[in-house]
Order: sequence, then C-alpha cells, then structure tokens
Amino acid sequence: MNIAVIGTGYVGLVTGVCLSHAGNSVTCVDIDKDKITGLQNGRPPIYEEGLGELLQTNLQRKRLHFTTDYQKGITGKDVILLAVGTPQNDDGSADLSALFSACRAIAPHLHEHTIIVTKSTVPIGTNEQIKHYIEQAACGMSVSIIAAPEFLRQGSAVHDTFHGDRIVIGGEDSEAMQTVEELYRPFNIPIIKTDLRSAEMIKYASNAFLAAKISFINEIANLCEHADANVEDVAQGIGMDRRIGNHFLSPGAGYGGSCFPKDLSAIMSYGRKLGCPLSILESVQNVNERQTNILVEKVQKRLGNLTGKTIAILGLAFKPGTDDMRNAPSIPLIKKLMMSGADVNAFDPAATEHAKNILPREVNYANTIDEALANADGAVIITDWQEIKDYPLESFKNHLADPVIFDGRNCFSLDRMSESGIAYYSIGRPTIH
Ligand code: UGA
Repeated sequence: MNIAVIGTGYVGLVTGVCLSHAGNSVTCVDIDKDKITGLQNGRPPIYEEGLGELLQTNLQRKRLHFTTDYQKGITGKDVILLAVGTPQNDDGSADLSALFSACRAIAPHLHEHTIIVTKSTVPIGTNEQIKHYIEQAACGMSVSIIAAPEFLRQGSAVHDTFHGDRIVIGGEDSEAMQTVEELYRPFNIPIIKTDLRSAEMIKYASNAFLAAKISFINEIANLCEHADANVEDVAQGIGMDRRIGNHFLSPGAGYGGSCFPKDLSAIMSYGRKLGCPLSILESVQNVNERQTNILVEKVQKRLGNLTGKTIAILGLAFKPGTDDMRNAPSIPLIKKLMMSGADVNAFDPAATEHAKNILPREVNYANTIDEALANADGAVIITDWQEIKDYPLESFKNHLADPVIFDGRNCFSLDRMSESGIAYYSIGRPTIH
C-alpha cells in the first residue's frame, strides 16, 4: 500500500518504519527540517532498539521516504496516518492544535475516499471532528476516518509494534476498516474492530488501568511498610491469580513519562466536562504524587535536618532505557530535597542533558556513579538502570560518608543488602538498619 505518516515522533516514526519493513511504500512527513534531514540520511532522532537498522534497510530499499513537503508526501496516497502529539493543556485537557493544523495541511492534497487513520491519542469524539474538519477544508470531498490507537512503550517501541497484544481498528466505514486490517495483517497480531468512540476510549482506559495498577501496588507497598509485610511477596502472590496478572505490579517512586500523567489528566478532564467525574483516577493521581513525598520523608527521618547534607541521586529519566525526563518522578523528588536544604549530586547514564533544562540550576551532575556518591550522606535510587543495579555494594560503602541507600525501585534483594553493612530503605519491604 501507499502510505503517508504525519509526524515523526515516537509513534509516527516507529509505525512508518515498521510499515515500510512490512512491504509498504511509506512517506513520513514532518515540519521539523533538521529531523527530516537526519532521517533522510538514516539517523533516527531517538534511540530505540532496532530502529536505526530498520530505517537504513528500508531507505536503501527505497520504500521509505521523508519529506517536509505535504503535497509531495500526501498526493496519491491511499492511507494517511496521523501521529502528531497531543500534549496537555493547562486545564488538563488534550491540546489538539497540532493535530488540526496537520489536518489543515493535508486536506488540499487528498483524493476522494482517502483513508485517514488516527494513531495519536485523542479524546472521545475527536475522530468525528477530524472527519468533519477535513471534509470542510477539502471542499466537501468525502474521506473515511479510522481510530487505530497505539500501545507501544518507549524503549521497546519496535518490538511492541511487531508483537503487540492487539490492534484496535475503530470506524464506521467497513470497507476502510477492511483496508486497515489488511495493512496490519502481516503483523499477525489479534485485531479488535469497534466503533470510533470505543476505540478512542480503549486507549485512555488502557493507560488509566495500567496507571491504576501501579498506584494500587504503591499503596499496598506503603501499607506493607506499616504492617511489616513484604510487597514483593504480596505482588507475586496476587499476580499469580490470572484475573489480576503479574505485570505492572512493581512498586516504586511512581509512574512518569509523556503518556500516563497526560492521558489520565485528559480522560479526567473529559469526564468532568460530561458531569461524570472519575474518582478512582483522582486517587490514582494522588497516590502517584504522594510516592515521591514518601521517599523524601524516609530521607529526612534517617538523616534529620538536610541543610548542608549532600544526597546522591541515581537515575533521572522516567524509566530506564530512555533519556526522557517528561514527568519523571526525579523532578519533584529533587526539588523537595533541595527545598529542605540538601545539596544534590545527580547521575543518569542518558538523561543528564535533558535534565539540565528542567532541574534547578544548583544540581551538580556527575559523570559516573562513583562521582555522584563521593562523600554524599546518602544515595537515592529513582530509575532502575541496569548500570545502577550492577553497581557493586562495596563501592557504595566506600564512597558514601554514611552508607545508606533509599531505593525507590527495589533494585537489590534484601538478603544481599542485609549482609552488606549498608542501611537500606526500599519500597514496601522491611528496612535494613
Ligand atoms: C505507556 C504504556 O505502557 C504503553 O502501552 C502506551 O502505548 C504508552 O504509555 C503511550 O500511551 O504512548 P511508556 O510511557 O513508554 O508506555 O512507559 P511504561 O513502560 O508503561 O512505564 C510508565 C511508567 O510507569 C514509568 O515511570 C515506570 O517506571 C512506571 N512503572 C511501570 C512502575 O512504576 N511500575 C510498574 O510496574 C510498571
């Protein structure tokens, strides 16, 4: 098939590259000239395992193209995928300005019955608006609209695209739905077909449910600490019930990233607008915000007044395997520690450059874990990078002035820690003094 993808962010780029790899001719369109030039030369702007190789292979096969020219990108294409960002407005709702500006840009170049597939996460009812908007902008020409939300994770985006759990195809035009089904058939992933609004809702409900699972286990972890139970055993015990499942039950410093916080706010804002407030999700958000406070309180309880004390922060990105700092739990945590008078030495294997634009100017950035720990009064782990999990406990002891670790991701086993001579505070597990 002849396809155009609008937007070369995580979703657009990975989808475009993978669809070309599946044998389609794909043109990706973006307004960012530097990004497009890099991509034309086989340089992806993000790191995703396998993406660089697939990009280069399909550029060589001449079935993957990049352009900033809408006319060139859109003309003659049967299917247009919309994959532009829908960030958060100040009131929590989704900002659809980039999406509608993309619709304006593509409208003059469409032909009758072009299929528009929305991959972006959009509030319920948006696809109907998109259809109406494009048809007006294209002087009454008829287009088909399909909602096919994306479920890939940063860090495993290529794998998730080829091996997802399901493909959702929402629409009202059965012929167009059939065409999109054929497009995805080579991926051999189960397909669910729904109406437009249900497909839009599936995306928000999925992310809301996953975030709820994390806040649930975080709340149980906090209770475990008060009850002298071990949340790891509890998570394993409940996860063995197949109705619950054992994924997304790792307690920690809270969820972050560009998706869960934004999508929860958007669906909650939508619910309020309809007079249908989502009280479970209010609690999910509150529990998530509280998680960083709980870590700070542990530090304060152990170290007392933090004025003049130095804390080593290990990990800044919202999760390992990415340099993304958006809504990372490290941000509120570091700010709270600094407001309490602490000096901060921060280390992250990938996110330091992004962190410099976000964190307070007074943060000291270390190039190595050794350097971050040197003479610090304690270490706080916020991102479970393999490099941090592999760091020798002996070195923690040698570098820290007071060997104490506050582990926001449960990186180390209690057995190992109890023999280490390091005081160890983790999430939902007994403390080792
Ligand atoms: C998430 C979803 O997992 C994807 O399915 C979805 O497509 C994507 O949002 C999106 O809407 O675009 P992502 O934000 O890349 O993907 O990251 P996750 O791997 O889901 O992690 C999100 C956050 O939850 C991280 O901060 C992670 O540390 C935290 N988390 C995850 C936990 O605290 N505990 C867990 O058990 C799992």
